[in-house]
Amino acid sequence: MESAGENLGGLSIAGGWISSSPNLDKNLGILSAEEIALAKMLLDKGQKHLFDHWPEPGVDDTRKKNFLHQVARLNSSYPGGLVSYIQNARKLLSDSKAGKNPYDGFTPSVPSGEILTFGDEKFTLLEEAGVRESRKAAFVLVAGGLGERLGYKGIKLALPSETTTNRCFLQYYIESILALQEASCRTVQGHGEAEIPLVIMTSDDTHAPTLSLLESNYYFGMKSSQVKLLKQEKVACLNDNDARLALDPNDSYKMQTKPHGHGDVHTLLFSSGLLNLWHRADIRWVLFFQDTNGLLFKGIPASLGVSATRGYQVNSLAVPRKAKEAMGGIAQLTHTDGNTLFMIFRYKMVINVEYNQLGPLLRATGHADGDVNCETGFSPFPGNINQLILELEPYIQELSKTRGAIAEFVNPKYKDSSKTSFKSSTRLECMMQDYPKSLPASAKIGFTVVDKWLAYAPVKNNPEDASKVPKGNPYHSATSGEMAVYRANCLMLKKAGVLVADPIIDIFNGQEVEVWPRVTWSPKWASTFTDVIWKVGKGCSISQRSTLVINGQNIVLDGLRLDGTLVITANDQADVKVTGHVQNKGWTLEHVDYKDNSIPQEIRIRGFKIYKIEQLELNYMESGKFQFPEQEGAE
Ligand code: UTP
Repeated sequence: MESAGENLGGLSIAGGWISSSPNLDKNLGILSAEEIALAKMLLDKGQKHLFDHWPEPGVDDTRKKNFLHQVARLNSSYPGGLVSYIQNARKLLSDSKAGKNPYDGFTPSVPSGEILTFGDEKFTLLEEAGVRESRKAAFVLVAGGLGERLGYKGIKLALPSETTTNRCFLQYYIESILALQEASCRTVQGHGEAEIPLVIMTSDDTHAPTLSLLESNYYFGMKSSQVKLLKQEKVACLNDNDARLALDPNDSYKMQTKPHGHGDVHTLLFSSGLLNLWHRADIRWVLFFQDTNGLLFKGIPASLGVSATRGYQVNSLAVPRKAKEAMGGIAQLTHTDGNTLFMIFRYKMVINVEYNQLGPLLRATGHADGDVNCETGFSPFPGNINQLILELEPYIQELSKTRGAIAEFVNPKYKDSSKTSFKSSTRLECMMQDYPKSLPASAKIGFTVVDKWLAYAPVKNNPEDASKVPKGNPYHSATSGEMAVYRANCLMLKKAGVLVADPIIDIFNGQEVEVWPRVTWSPKWASTFTDVIWKVGKGCSISQRSTLVINGQNIVLDGLRLDGTLVITANDQADVKVTGHVQNKGWTLEHVDYKDNSIPQEIRIRGFKIYKIEQLELNYMESGKFQFPEQEGAE
């Protein structure tokens, strides 16, 4: 680094640059030219208070330099640096104080999209198209969130998505991607080769444990070179409406920082250079998804099929949503004022609108009742589940213009109605689903609605909060997330012709849920509904108390009548047919209390643990054709 007191862009320190901060002035001699430039930038932007407590040189010098080192990091990780951050913050804070609605002047309407019915011909054709297209896809998992609502001590990706197999979310995701990769390659004549890339966005809170989870599990079967971790940085906190940056209450030589939101993923993908690499490797689609949805991949093939056949530049995965349900709605917003400057650039966008904004917006534009259900019994504005499929080429073009910057918002908690001071510091945030906001009106944006039971069961809430959710609303807890996996698998088997017993209702951790037979399968067994149909023959039945675990690719159930627990494991070279009556004491669900600290947190947050009494285990680790029960006279 250039030494202090020499030259700073023609500014001579020795010659006596006098800043507006006497305490900083005294310390200029201990700072490098770059550090002084950063300090000057802060002073220019009204941040003198950051230096008010600085003592004489010789006291805390290392901490002063560390502070400016942190400033440098914050400056380089935000598009346009801290100057832009402060400017953007002032504008958004002033709009927030004035109570401006970002969608003022826009009229909502229902955009065009595809509404799918699970299992019908169109659905299966789209799934096929999606599987074909998968080898041209890259997956991006945003996993930098703190998970404060869930309150789990580890990272959410390490949580079991269900406790019958204890397959954690990350394992489920990776195995699903690998299964799609293989299925997609099989659609190419001569069996093509492809490696679907996976990017995981982490943060300081999640990076090290995510890496360790991958490494200690050999990347769950994926090549380590296929997986890339991108770490998002936090942003500086804001103390007041003038966007004065906040110091850490526990360390006055540290800027207080908080997460900037999952919208950072676009900035990081852009700056990493990965998008261009993918483009050169003939990748066409980028699929974004979140950290705790155990159903996620059941809706992916058909949705990707929709992107490919409809040519959607942006495809938001959605589920039917009741009017006023606390879930963002996908809406087309059209600007009504042709004279505004805004109008010149864009008059229409298809975007996620938060439910508390959608109602008022509708009422302000001639719909007196706001958001109401239509003849389907659901709101015409489908519910956004924050899984996006973007077409790579236009995505690159757009990010090249914006440098990956995403529309931001601020959500200060004011002390009182004067809106002059905050209860605690705030910061700017951004959301990945706001990407389409900057797109031109001509961009082809749509949505794909799939059944909620099939595709959406996030784990976000701790048991206590989940138990207080008003009746009829989703719990989004570890309990409901796990039960949703069993329900979806059972409903798929039912649709494929299996006689699956009805669920019973039980209450775990204060949440009333349907308990279906505990059916799980490894993603390679079935990536699509067509796979399920192929692997299920006639005359199968499963009783409510049963557990069925399928680990393997070529396992066919044919006339299987299960009343108990059956675990089938087979390697890829074994062709296995399972028939007959299997009956044993099976595995039961025992109630546990989430407050019982003697039970591991990942279990007690569900309110039950699996008690393994008796099971039949079938293992086929050699190549060949096998049948259970073995036929008499067979080798
Ligand atoms: P959530 O809404 O679940 O937020 O994020 P969260 O921060 O993880 O949890 P709470 O709000 O503290 O309880 C949706 C997805 O976005 C990721 C999360 O990891 C999750 O996959 N995310 C969120 C990020 O990657 N970065 C962020 O800054 C915030």
